[in-house]
Amino acid sequence: MAPVPTFPINVGHIDDVQELNKAKPTTVPERFVQDMADRPKLTANIASSSDIPIIDLSKLMKGDKDEHFSEVMQLKTACEEWGFFQVLNHGIDLNVLETMEKVAKDFFMLPLHEKQKYPMAPGTVQGYGQAFVFSENQKLDWCNMFALGVEPPCIRNPKLWPSNPTNFSEILEIYSKEIRKLCKILLKYIAVSLGLKGEVFEEMFRVAVQAVRMNYYPPCSRPDLVLGLSPHSDGSALTVLQQGKDSSVGLQILKDQTWLPVQPIPNALVINIGDTLEVLTNGKYKSVEHRAVTHKEKDRLSIVTFYAPSYEIELGPMPELVDEKNPCRYRRYNHGEYSKHYVTNKLQGKRTLEFAKIQLNTSN
Ligand code: OGA
Ligand code: NI
Repeated sequence: MAPVPTFPINVGHIDDVQELNKAKPTTVPERFVQDMADRPKLTANIASSSDIPIIDLSKLMKGDKDEHFSEVMQLKTACEEWGFFQVLNHGIDLNVLETMEKVAKDFFMLPLHEKQKYPMAPGTVQGYGQAFVFSENQKLDWCNMFALGVEPPCIRNPKLWPSNPTNFSEILEIYSKEIRKLCKILLKYIAVSLGLKGEVFEEMFRVAVQAVRMNYYPPCSRPDLVLGLSPHSDGSALTVLQQGKDSSVGLQILKDQTWLPVQPIPNALVINIGDTLEVLTNGKYKSVEHRAVTHKEKDRLSIVTFYAPSYEIELGPMPELVDEKNPCRYRRYNHGEYSKHYVTNKLQGKRTLEFAKIQLNTSN
């Protein structure tokens, strides 16, 4: 997941946000204060999020013919118009979700020196720290991250798998297996919703890459000045996000130039389309820009799984989704190269996907 960059980088001193918050709860250091244009306008009229689609997986999998068909149509609309949806009745034992949340939270609550046994080296994205920081001048997000490559085993860095909490690794294994199953099922129905055969992504992806990132956002005395996580789209094919049970609302998606909050629904998982599916579907299903904002009094935890093809595969728009009306919008490339490009650039909206875009001379 995290190739070590070949260029020298100096990120300066990066404060640990939880420690900052403990030591000086009312101060926001300059490096976390976003430029005016990037600050979240929290007082602006934030539209209701009740429209973010909800997909009932049990209807997709076990519903009668009509139910199944209508749910496939909802999935299609969700992917085409939103790039985000929440999935209910996903079949994952709630115990597994809750236990994962508990060990993640317990990890973040450890003393700093304990967490620093698993450091994220500058410019890499595995371990504890802040990812996507490449220079001393770059603004920092109000977030502590802990990220690990999970599958295939060759992307794991066993030294970064914590021994404290003692059951962390065991729980993460169980959790990741369940989330992997869910990703395969969702990709099957996403293929069906595109009129393709269900196995198309599974066959194409070979041994899929899976990584997890836990994000912990402490409260911030000035949520109007900082970002929890800068706007970005995910480089994955599919992302599965679990929001902590008592967490504040923090995830926002950009729709029609408006930031919409994603209200946590108990026991639901948030799914979003990543850049890789955008390319494969020739832009029919797009990755959507999102960000996280912070809260004055409440903290927030999210557990995010990125599911993507094997680094070895070549990919580009699927021929079935390219025709005269829908000319090819992305070039073919090696997925490993895109992943490297993604993790060696700071988060900046959807800019990383420029890597793959073909400039069309038409109004399309
Ligand atoms: C991410 C992400 C949002 C959140 O980790 O890619 O978008 O709510 N996280 O933590
Ligand atoms: Ni994301």
